[in-house]
Amino acid sequence: MRHQPVDSSLFSANRKRLACTLEPQSVAVVNANDLLPVNADATLPMQPNSDLFYLSGIEQEESILLLAPNSAHETWREILFIREPNELMRIWEGHKLSRDEASRISGIKTVHWLSDFPAIFRQLMHESNQVYLNQNEHGRASSEMETREDRFVRDCLKRFPLQQYKRLAPLLHRLRLVKSEIELELMQKAVSITNAGFKRVFRYVRPGINEAEIEAEFAHEFIRSHAYFAYSPIVASGSNACILHYQTNDRPCRDGDLLLLDVGAKYANYSADLTRTIPVNGRFTRRQKAVYNAVLRVMRAGIEGAVKGKTHRDWTREAQEHMNEELLELGLLKPRDIRNQTPGSFACRKYFMHGLGHALGLDVHDVGSMAQPFEAGWVLTVEPGLYIPEEGFGIRLENNVLITTEGPKDLTADVPVEAEEIEERMAKNLRRKISIRRNASQKTKRSA
Ligand code: GLY
Ligand code: MN
Ligand code: MN
Repeated sequence: MRHQPVDSSLFSANRKRLACTLEPQSVAVVNANDLLPVNADATLPMQPNSDLFYLSGIEQEESILLLAPNSAHETWREILFIREPNELMRIWEGHKLSRDEASRISGIKTVHWLSDFPAIFRQLMHESNQVYLNQNEHGRASSEMETREDRFVRDCLKRFPLQQYKRLAPLLHRLRLVKSEIELELMQKAVSITNAGFKRVFRYVRPGINEAEIEAEFAHEFIRSHAYFAYSPIVASGSNACILHYQTNDRPCRDGDLLLLDVGAKYANYSADLTRTIPVNGRFTRRQKAVYNAVLRVMRAGIEGAVKGKTHRDWTREAQEHMNEELLELGLLKPRDIRNQTPGSFACRKYFMHGLGHALGLDVHDVGSMAQPFEAGWVLTVEPGLYIPEEGFGIRLENNVLITTEGPKDLTADVPVEAEEIEERMAKNLRRKISIRRNASQKTKRSA
């Protein structure tokens, strides 16, 4: 793993919290992710399973966590199963966790090799009244691929048809929504690495630079900080910013264009999700700035409005009403558009067609139901945008906010966001570049 070791008390506390929500005499199982195949014999790098990490800190493929909090065998209340390393594995894949290492990372005392799993699992199944199995229940998950967890569920139902099965995912979703101190520290670290990436990019952006080169500057900053991209970065200049999931990042940035950057780092599996929109030549036009400031006002109001007890629906509606007002001021909507809007389709949706924000944590669109009112400990993104293809630009701003009993806390408050501050930063860097170039050419003349 690239990151510093995470205090195992995080994982022990998470297991304890989960154990309190399980029915008596039950067993719960969580599997690692598969290594995802691509073409020929290639696979993507391992993507740790978020639930397994949350409960154990284990990121290694093929691992299995068994929890049976009331088992009569005290040493079986928490068991981790991992691959048994062998010489071939060492030669081709490198180091694999020893049982001691897995125990240190997770705080779990009982660690077995995978070959012990079938016998122990059968015995635990026979002594349990209910079995909690896990599946990806994210509301927008849409993959057709069967996961390792799906295969495990299918196999279990076949081999133990008389058991009472329950869904683990809703319990985990409720827990994962509320972030603990250690999780917030890791998220703050992801934010600070992301901030460094943005500050680096402010130094490089200029007319003619390709979107791909800008992505590379983020990669440089993230990888040197032992982090990864939390999601496919969106580096979208000009009207590309109006494509909400733009990912090709391959166009030259033109003088006069705006550049939308939706890029976040992931550190120790915890994500940041940040968006800034900046002028390619270092200065916003009057019109661009007017639209920018409208989006900024909606974001600021959204941050202030992210308070305990509010529902996601009301929060979003407040932002949509606010955006309607801003669009009237900008001349993009007429009063009649607002009079004719329906509750299901606000007038602003023509230019602001996505949600105001989502939960953030181990996953970028993190798990957890948004139907219940906001609670202290939730981290939300606040990300209004206006996309105006007829004017050739789109603007989105996105900050990450922690809900507390004392009110919202902006985890991304240090990332420059005022239009003037962005202009100043970019101007300073452009001035520095010009003076370096001037000094270099004077030196060349003197030595000639
Ligand atoms: N970066 C994905 C999102 O903003 O939701
Ligand atoms: Mn984003
Ligand atoms: Mn987001």
